[in-house]
Amino acid sequence: STYQVGYFVGSLSSTSINRVLSRALIRVAPDDLDFSEITIGALPLYSPDFDDDYPPEARALKAAIAAVDAILFVTPEYNRSIPGALKNAIDWASRPWGQNSFDHIPAAVIGASIGQIGTAMGQQNLRGVLSFCNARQMTSPEAYIQYSPAVFRDDGEITDDSTREFLRAFMAEFRAYVGMVLTVLPRQKV
Ligand code: FNR
Repeated sequence: STYQVGYFVGSLSSTSINRVLSRALIRVAPDDLDFSEITIGALPLYSPDFDDDYPPEARALKAAIAAVDAILFVTPEYNRSIPGALKNAIDWASRPWGQNSFDHIPAAVIGASIGQIGTAMGQQNLRGVLSFCNARQMTSPEAYIQYSPAVFRDDGEITDDSTREFLRAFMAEFRAYVGMVLTVLPRQKV
């Protein structure tokens, strides 16, 4: 069966290397994964004051997560953590209390930076957040991508064979992992 994957790009930059990475991942992913971006840039800042009446952007966010089988986070590392825009989106989706959109959802995390650390610290922070949100995270393989314009074309073409095969294997594992989680864990869609 085909699985619907919603992906988050953690960057609001118009020249985001993580957006390029998301294009590359979609290119090498198994054919039976369908991708749609879940955008985060229009969300206001979360406050519990909204819990009784979510604004349209936040309702759309929760509806988009409810509409997919799994989620993929493609995010930069900001100051050794995740960008505030992404944390804000996660906070919105995790609420109102008792209507956590991430409960039991299959999830994977990946990210690119210019530096060699390849978003490792940011991903560790994101994993802690997703653990609390009760998402079912693929724990292996990990993927810390050092971005180079020589390897990633803007349209997502990967020019380096070993990088392409690594990312292909990452997405194949994700496909297998999503299938496994969905067979054993029912998810309440809120
Ligand atoms: C960064 N950058 C960065 N890089 C890194 O490897 N570790 C870090 O902690 C940070 N911190 C950080 C904070 C802020 C506020 C900015 C703007 C940038 C650099 C970052 O990896 C680089 O800007 C990437 O291009 C960001 O990814 P996008 O936005 O291009 O997808």
